[in-house]
Amino acid sequence: MSHHIDRKTKNYSTNSLLIHGKFLTKKWDFSHHVIPPMSTSVTYRLDSIERAARGFNNFANPAVFGHRTPDPIYIYERLDEPVRGMLEDNLAFAEGGDCAITFASGMAAVSAAVGIFVKSGDEVISHRTVYGCTYSLFTNWYPKYNIKVHFTDLTKAENLKKFVNKRTRVIYFETPTNPTMELIDIRAVVELVKELNRKRRKEERIHTVVDNTFATPFCQRPLSLGVDVVLHSLTKNIGGFGTDVGGAVITREEFESPLMLYRKDFGGQLASKTAWTIYVYGLPTLSMRVKRQQESAKIIVDFLKRQKLVEYVRYPGIEGTREYEIAKKQMTDFNGEFAPGNMIAFKIAGKPEQAHQRAKKIVNHIAKNAYTLTLAVSLGQLRTLIDYPSAMTHATIPLKEQPAHGIIPGLIRLSIGSEEPEDIIKDLTDAFSVTK
Ligand SMILES: Cc1ncc(COP(=O)(O)O)c(C=O)c1O
Repeated sequence: MSHHIDRKTKNYSTNSLLIHGKFLTKKWDFSHHVIPPMSTSVTYRLDSIERAARGFNNFANPAVFGHRTPDPIYIYERLDEPVRGMLEDNLAFAEGGDCAITFASGMAAVSAAVGIFVKSGDEVISHRTVYGCTYSLFTNWYPKYNIKVHFTDLTKAENLKKFVNKRTRVIYFETPTNPTMELIDIRAVVELVKELNRKRRKEERIHTVVDNTFATPFCQRPLSLGVDVVLHSLTKNIGGFGTDVGGAVITREEFESPLMLYRKDFGGQLASKTAWTIYVYGLPTLSMRVKRQQESAKIIVDFLKRQKLVEYVRYPGIEGTREYEIAKKQMTDFNGEFAPGNMIAFKIAGKPEQAHQRAKKIVNHIAKNAYTLTLAVSLGQLRTLIDYPSAMTHATIPLKEQPAHGIIPGLIRLSIGSEEPEDIIKDLTDAFSVTK
């Protein structure tokens, strides 16, 4: 960069000097920093109209490398930003994708991942159980845009055929599902969609979109199984510490440009300060955190299975279950080891009203008395979190409709944290004794 103005000799005022400082400095040197600076510049010096024009022309332009050019021209934070870019490179690597595009929240990532594929008149087929706000997006907002969402049970992939038609553009699911911990056979869905796409023109193609938040890339990488688009709430185990909200979409190169343009125009970009936190603290510690939480989860599952008050436990690591058979095929860590993760669902025994009353007693007891369990939404933190989906994360689904979406009375969700499992069991034992 060349800029020859000597501010001192030109006698600029103190006010102006305080604003501009030394102006140009060699201190901006990302390649030699061990930890990158927390970059928080909303806008970027463009040097010349020619360079500015090149930057605007290059942005999200697949013909000229898109934003992955080796010498990116940063323009404005909403468009692209260096620390966010470094996080995106690492997220793409972790999921085995060509590119990652980050967003301000998991919901912004859901909106973008589906939004780039649908227009008025199009249809989406979703698994019947999805995170409450995803359900709300599909049922409260999409109908206003004349986009129809069919809910079905994708634990049987062939159910797709009941709803698929010329207008279908997206198959959407979480696996494991929030909060029921059902598993969907990713490859079975992908194979079916491949078959359906065989006779379709490119613009009529159906795309598979998977919310991989519960598993994290440590436990499962759906792109390697043929899925088109993976998304995350970075707020959860990738962020890992419960300090920042974020989202990400990871996919093939062909969808990078539309996602960048979607983010540019709808907004919802990840704040650079948040990107820094997730890049420096979250993602690099993902493996060690989830590995430890997963070891604890297995111990807690064994404890829950022994409780008379527990009708069933759903966890992908329970041998002899349908979930286990699917998990063995698709849930493995970066070293190829079986990785069922840190999320558990269990149902309190009893008919609906009885199960609900018992669960209420147990969960409220935990909320008031437990040390290692916290009654709170969200998941994937150092602290173990307990959720009663019907009243909390999935309260957006009307009570009457909840059972059709798998949200049944007495269903409890646990996100196992990094405490000693024996301490978590101590608190659970105390809570279970309340209903005796
Ligand atoms: C599976 C899943 N997807 C998406 C989201 C939305 O993420 P965020 O809260 O970061 O918008 C959540 C949040 O709980 C979630 O559990």
